Amino acid sequence: MKDKIQQIKEDAVSKIEASKTIEDIENVRIAYLGKKSAFNEILKGLKDLSPEEKKEIGPLANQTKKELQHLIDDKKMALESVIDEKKEWIDVTAPGTKHAHGHLHPLSIVQRDIENIFNSMGFEIADGPDIESESYNFDAINMPDDHPGRDMQDTFWISREDGRKKGTGTVMRTQTSGVQVRYMEKHKPPFRIIVPGRVFRNEATDASHEHTFHQFEALVVGDDVSVANFLYIAETFFSEFFGQEIKARLRPSYFPFVEPGFEFDISCTNCGGKGCSTCSQTGWIEVGGAGMVHQNVFEAAGYEKDKYQGFAWGFGLERLAMMKYKINDIRLFHSGDVRFTRQF
Ligand code: DAH
Repeated sequence: MKDKIQQIKEDAVSKIEASKTIEDIENVRIAYLGKKSAFNEILKGLKDLSPEEKKEIGPLANQTKKELQHLIDDKKMALESVIDEKKEWIDVTAPGTKHAHGHLHPLSIVQRDIENIFNSMGFEIADGPDIESESYNFDAINMPDDHPGRDMQDTFWISREDGRKKGTGTVMRTQTSGVQVRYMEKHKPPFRIIVPGRVFRNEATDASHEHTFHQFEALVVGDDVSVANFLYIAETFFSEFFGQEIKARLRPSYFPFVEPGFEFDISCTNCGGKGCSTCSQTGWIEVGGAGMVHQNVFEAAGYEKDKYQGFAWGFGLERLAMMKYKINDIRLFHSGDVRFTRQF
């Protein structure tokens, strides 16, 4: 009996070694360990043996069965991994998987475009904090606490204690204009800068209003900077930005930090000024505020009064992006909706 078991084991081992496919190894398993196998017959016959034989043959048979089972399992695993490897190596015609690439948000694209155009006109890019002191955001640019102009902007206050000293609060900046005095405190004219930045307003949102949006402030200061310089720079910038000839026009308006102040329009980018639904048939589209820097602002920056002249100009980044790409809802920019951002 012992020899028989040994014989079966040797046969099985050589068959296992010779197996080349999963099917081969499965056949070996059935033949040697299956219900009808010679090995199973031995196990079944154990009960008819004498107690001494049982003691010897029982454990040997079980041990051998286990060993064979292990060998078969190992061989099967090895064959399976060969098959996997083959798949990976051989099927060079399988189509590759597409990896998603990151890309710029439309606002970043537009911001870079604007910065490049102004850079080419000799402007530097300046920066200021999103969380701003009340004094830079308002007081320094001629909007003290009791100034009616403050009502033009709904403000998110970060701190503003009762009974505080005037001008000591902190705000989410409502405009990039606050960077004007920040910059001028550290630099003397002549200079030209633009200040791109995120701004915040505590107001309800709709298709053309967001609580968080971006502005570009332009500030040009020197001895003899004039409104004509502003117009020239504005027309050059917008023509470059929209890739078509753009005219600008000024309408008198009021902003506390400029005198005189203007609202300015550009010729409609859709119809070129003839009149269409985009410009409500007027041929013009309003794009921002501007004016000659108020002498109080120069004074707040520590400049001698009436020594310099300059223009300041502010416009919304989203507005320009919407015009350029024909986007009809400002809320899409921060919606996080990839169906929107994937288009850029
Ligand atoms: N800061 C103004 C606003 O947010 C925009 C503005 C108007 C900026 C006139 C200027 C300016 O520099 O001269 O509504």
